Parts: sequence; structure tokens; C-alpha cells
Amino acid sequence: MSKWMPFFNKNEKEIQTEKIDNVPNHVAIIMDGNGRWASERGLPRIAGHKEGMEVVRRIVKEAVEQNIKVLTLYAFSTENWKRPKREIDFLMRLPIEFSNKYLPEMIENNVRIKTIGEFDSLPAHTKRSISHAKEKTKQNDGLLLNFALNYGSRDEIVRATKQVIQDVHDGTIAETDIDEAVIAKYLYTEDVPDPDLLIRTSGEHRLSNFLLWQLAYAEFWFTDVMWPDFNEQIFLDALKDYQKRKRRYGGI
Ligand code: IPE
Ligand code: IPE
Ligand code: MG
Repeated sequence: MSKWMPFFNKNEKEIQTEKIDNVPNHVAIIMDGNGRWASERGLPRIAGHKEGMEVVRRIVKEAVEQNIKVLTLYAFSTENWKRPKREIDFLMRLPIEFSNKYLPEMIENNVRIKTIGEFDSLPAHTKRSISHAKEKTKQNDGLLLNFALNYGSRDEIVRATKQVIQDVHDGTIAETDIDEAVIAKYLYTEDVPDPDLLIRTSGEHRLSNFLLWQLAYAEFWFTDVMWPDFNEQIFLDALKDYQKRKRRYGGI
């Protein structure tokens, strides 16, 4: 029996999936379409975000089942501050709700929670709940669940560049030592391996400032499905499609 069973909620439309081989080590997802999903149903956009949070929980569970090592989820971009305050406030409370509802099962399932992005300027209550979740899961060595929160790839590269210049000035590193591996260490992703597979929902085919450096050789997979309608089976479709890809990295 799955170790997730004690948390199984009969009302949820959970789907039983088979275990598949050769899964990508690191899957990154642009969880898009919450607002449209809600609008199509005559609901406020925040209803889509709430439903989207439940999908996060299900996909994390599936990633654990499939032995994926890292799952990076784009939750809030540096550009998402342009949205109405009400919507932003709701999004900034979601980590608290996620933590209250699902932190125990994350711990139970050996999930380690981390974030990438500019953390300091998040609201205090958001930071508190995320820091708590990180602290409670820091010893876990199962799935690394990485939330991209207030994350923008260009912002990340600007920050990294400034830090590299600072460290060269301070003599911590020599200019001649700077190579791709050194630059990678200055990014939020530090020692996390690059994503193997990028999934974007909602029919949009763009990166929206997500992991520009790290996705250099990732396989891309798109679906028209809105994030609140995404499920385990669609996730498996993406993983199975990934298995068929021939990754050449510029070779033959
Ligand atoms: C993705 O859904 C979640 C966030 C960006 C926070 P959206 O809120 O972008 O939904 P759409 O794309 O407007 O439908
Ligand atoms: C990307 O989605 C950011 C997240 C999923 C958090 P957006 O909805 O913000 O992207 P654009 O504006 O359509 O490019
Ligand atoms: Mg969107």
C-alpha cells in the first residue's frame, strides 16, 4: 500500500498510475492557466490558484512515487507583482495554506522543501511559513521540492553577476577561474542539477523568464491543459514522451 494512503481523501479525483523507468532526474514545471481555468467557470481567479495548490500536492506525490529527484515549480515570477494586490495577497498566503495542510505528509514522504528566487522581499508571513517548512524538511533526502517564488531568471543572472564582480574585487575568486561551473554556483540553483524536462501547461509556449541558464539543454513538453486540470496521468504522458527523446547536447 502506498505510504501516502493515510492522507488519501475520498473526494479527490486521484488517479492510480504505473511506475515507469528512466524518469528525468529533474522536472521543472511552469504551472500556468489558473486564472483562465477559474474565469471559464465564472469563478474569481483566486479559485484557480486554490485548485492549483491541490494539483501541486498531487504532482509532488506522483514525483515521489516515480522516484524523481528534483521538482522545481514556478509559483510566482518577478513579473507577477504587476497583478492586482488582491491576487498577489492571495498568492502570498498560499505557501501558508500549503504548509498547514500538507507539511506533515511532505515530512512523512521524505520531501525536502527549498525555494529559489529573491526571498527577502516576500511578505513576513510568507517567509515565516516557508522558513518553517524548510527547517522541518532540511534533513530529508528524498524528493527536493523547489518552489520558484519571486523568481526571475534575468534578475538571478544580474544578482549572480554582481556577486561575481564583488568576489573578484575581494579576491575570493580570480577572474581566470570564472567558467560555466563557477557561474552556475552563483545562481539560486547552486548545486541542483539542470532540469531534464520542462513542462508548461495552458497552451502557452514561452519561458516567461524561467531558468534561462539552467534550461539550455532541457527537453520541453507543452500541454493545452490548464494547471488546475493537470493530473498524474498527464504528468506520466510527459514523462513517457521524455523517454523517447534523443538528447544529443550538440553531438551526433
Ligand atoms: C499561473 O496561473 C499561476 C501564477 C502565475 C501565479 P495564472 O495566474 O498565470 O493563470 P492565467 O495564465 O492567467 O490563466
Ligand atoms: C509564468 O506564468 C509564471 C508562473 C507560472 C508563476 P505567467 O502567467 O506569469 O506568464 P505570462 O505572463 O503569461 O508570460
Ligand atoms: Mg499565466
